[in-house]
Amino acid sequence: MNNSMIARRMQRVRPSPTATISDRVRELESAGKGVINLGEGELDFATPERIGYAGIEAIIHHQTKYTAVSGTAELKAAIAHKFVRDNGLHFSAQQIIAGNGAKQLIFNALMATVDAGQQVIIPAPYWVSYPDMVTLAEGEPVIVATEEQHGWKLQPAQLAAALTPESRWLILNSPGNPTGAVYRARELAALAEVLVDHPQVLIMSDDIYEPLRYGQTPFATFAEVAPQLADRVLTVNGVSKSHAMTGWRLGYAAGPRWLIAAMQTLQSQSTSNPGSISQAAAVVALTQPQDFFTEWLDKLNQRRQRVLDMVAATDGLSAQIPEGAFYIFANCQQLIGRTTPQGKPLADDKALAEWLLAEAQVAVLHGSAFGTPGYLRIAYAVDDTLLDEACRRLQAACGRLG
Ligand SMILES: Cc1ncc(COP(=O)(O)O)c(C=O)c1O
Repeated sequence: MNNSMIARRMQRVRPSPTATISDRVRELESAGKGVINLGEGELDFATPERIGYAGIEAIIHHQTKYTAVSGTAELKAAIAHKFVRDNGLHFSAQQIIAGNGAKQLIFNALMATVDAGQQVIIPAPYWVSYPDMVTLAEGEPVIVATEEQHGWKLQPAQLAAALTPESRWLILNSPGNPTGAVYRARELAALAEVLVDHPQVLIMSDDIYEPLRYGQTPFATFAEVAPQLADRVLTVNGVSKSHAMTGWRLGYAAGPRWLIAAMQTLQSQSTSNPGSISQAAAVVALTQPQDFFTEWLDKLNQRRQRVLDMVAATDGLSAQIPEGAFYIFANCQQLIGRTTPQGKPLADDKALAEWLLAEAQVAVLHGSAFGTPGYLRIAYAVDDTLLDEACRRLQAACGRLG
């Protein structure tokens, strides 16, 4: 390939580290290594059967043509129903758009609203794609480091200090990737209070992990908590994580009409509508009983405990108990600087993750990929036996560090 032909804007975007690690795992697997991948951001469960059948029926009934760019009327009604049922939020069809995953909607929203030099406040640790999407839109990511001791949540004073006349967005993600942190309504209300005096700022609430919460952890979303700011809030969600449908590529967003219209214009010139088959399946996912969650959450809860036990038993690792999602964000600062049995000192979290992949054949992601060095993200959405083996290998490998 001739590099001189690559557009300058490509200098502002890096390949997603999550995709890179998955490629590396596939490479090792094809070389016959028994790698266990705890780097992947998706549930191992099968898409519930009745949702799958809705997709098959859509094919049989020839629902296989273009649809409206922002989604079929049936899907929009199902999305509106979901927002009323789960969040007490009321949206008209013009305030809703479906896309190829939540990722496309976040991308479209930023592309449609961020001008060169405008700032987007992103609390760290963050989902890997936010900053690159902002820079691709010629905006400036303003990374605000949250603290483990604050449960990885943005504090109102931090928000106040980060705001400038150039601020265009604040991005919130709860339950959070990679920390599993879940904001309470009162915490969102306190952030809303700061934002009242900054009418130039839009708020993106990325709720993609909404139902994946443990114990009695309640859910709150920004638009519900701060109705006075509702005309500045984009609520993003999807069926990828909630319904084990990552491959179906179906996400949705709801917010002010002008913003949804702009996102729709952009989508009309890129991908058009999300797949008609996925839309039909998502109608069922969003409207039919969500009875599978109890079993899923039980399983995930046990796995979460398995990893927390491993972390507690491993010298040099520690972690907060995450309230949601399917990740443990483990502090590995005490392992940095230690020496491998091969005699190599581990310079940082990336070196540690690489060594764990080579030594224990377990893939985890380094915290610096999420803007927070000194941590490892361990995804526990894998089969129990594999997870057990992975935990044993990780603990044993860390024990070999000098
Ligand atoms: C925080 C967060 N938002 C959005 C997405 C994108 O989800 P989708 O599969 O719907 O594009 C992910 C996927 O990893 C995520 O972790």
